[in-house]
Amino acid sequence: MTSPGDSDRPVTLFEAVGGEPTFRKLVDEFYAGVATDPLLRPMYPEEDLGPAADRLTLFLMQYWGGPNTYSAQRGHPRLRIRHAPFRIGAAERDAWLHHMRRAVDRLDLPPEIATALWNYLERAAYFMVNVVEDPAAGA
Ligand code: HEM
Repeated sequence: MTSPGDSDRPVTLFEAVGGEPTFRKLVDEFYAGVATDPLLRPMYPEEDLGPAADRLTLFLMQYWGGPNTYSAQRGHPRLRIRHAPFRIGAAERDAWLHHMRRAVDRLDLPPEIATALWNYLERAAYFMVNVVEDPAAGA
């Protein structure tokens, strides 16, 4: 795919969704959900969720082909290591994905782009789980 009248440079997903404003909207919607979530909200160390929203926005922009501002400010993402201080089990993962699903839906993206974005977010959320739970213990 090429952008109209442009070179043969492939269009990144970052460009295809409309660049930074779309990622800001996604993450703002997501954090509006986190702010009211009894499981997730207490996990965030800062009173103000704004800086956390900024970090997630910059990370996602960079991942999808936008500017490398995240790494310029924070270094290598190492996301599993950065999440190690937080207990992330199935309930935390599912709560995170619940708010992210709503946020993705609010963007009204073309279905194939929404699917690509969602598949990544879902995979990444499963990857971030860092506690082993005994399935027999839960019920
Ligand atoms: C699975 C459930 C998840 C939970 C409960 C969770 C929770 C958290 C918490 C509590 C923080 C600290 C807030 C901050 O200081 O920024 C954080 C940071 C962050 N999370 Fe997650 N997270 C989850 C999944 C993900 C996923 C799937 C991604 C990426 C696709 C992600 C990307 C980030 C980034 C980029 C940061 C900031 C890292 C930094 O630069 O310090 N998180 N997360």
